[in-house]
Amino acid sequence: MPITHVHPMNLPESVWETLSTSLSAEPKIDSTRNTAQNIKTLYEQNLAVVLMQGDVPVGFIAVWPVEKGFVEIGSVWVHPDVRGQGLSHQIYDAVPSLPGIQNIVAFGITTNPISVHVGERVGLKIVRDWDTPVPRHLSCGPCEYISPADQSTCPKRGVSCWLRVITSTYRAQPHRW
Ligand SMILES: CC(C)(COP(=O)(O)OP(=O)(O)OC[C@H]1O[C@@H](n2cnc3c(N)ncnc32)[C@H](O)[C@@H]1OP(=O)(O)O)[C@@H](O)C(=O)NCCC(=O)NCCS
Repeated sequence: MPITHVHPMNLPESVWETLSTSLSAEPKIDSTRNTAQNIKTLYEQNLAVVLMQGDVPVGFIAVWPVEKGFVEIGSVWVHPDVRGQGLSHQIYDAVPSLPGIQNIVAFGITTNPISVHVGERVGLKIVRDWDTPVPRHLSCGPCEYISPADQSTCPKRGVSCWLRVITSTYRAQPHRW
């Protein structure tokens, strides 16, 4: 069955519960914010992309408005049955044209090297500065691994945890499928 990139369109209510459960089960995805209601709201605000295979959601990405002027690209997920087929590229490639990320600093934090690789194509480039342009309370603030006092010497930074920022150049010319 073909996999469809759906954004935006009406989706069955059950999609949000299914996605919320799937996202919450992933250790590399922040489990606290991916409630069914939150991700449905993002989608309705043109801040999320869903991939569907028939009635089943098989891919997701969200753009979280974390503070005025800043959005965080995250909650990237592909259904385990269809991983390794390039679907994460399809999801990421839809992000630059989302209305919610224009004229704003869009960043992503990940501990997954696949996300680093896939994000590069849409201009999510690794930055070594965890204070500018993304302020520390957004880049390191939500971390559950290390206390605020120890963040400046965090051994994971740039080693197994990466901060990436998207540039306006890439946003102007998103990859097209
Ligand atoms: C991360 C995830 C979304 C990737 O989805 P996917 O559809 O299986 O990935 P794709 O098949 O589109 O692409 C994988 C790409 O990463 C590359 N890759 C695979 N393992 C890699 C690694 N360890 N390091 C770098 N790149 C890697 C592949 O070669 C491929 O690149 P290419 O298409 O340029 O050849 C999926 O594995 C997932 O949902 N994981 C669980 C949730 C998660 O960790 N999300 C990220 C949280 S930030």
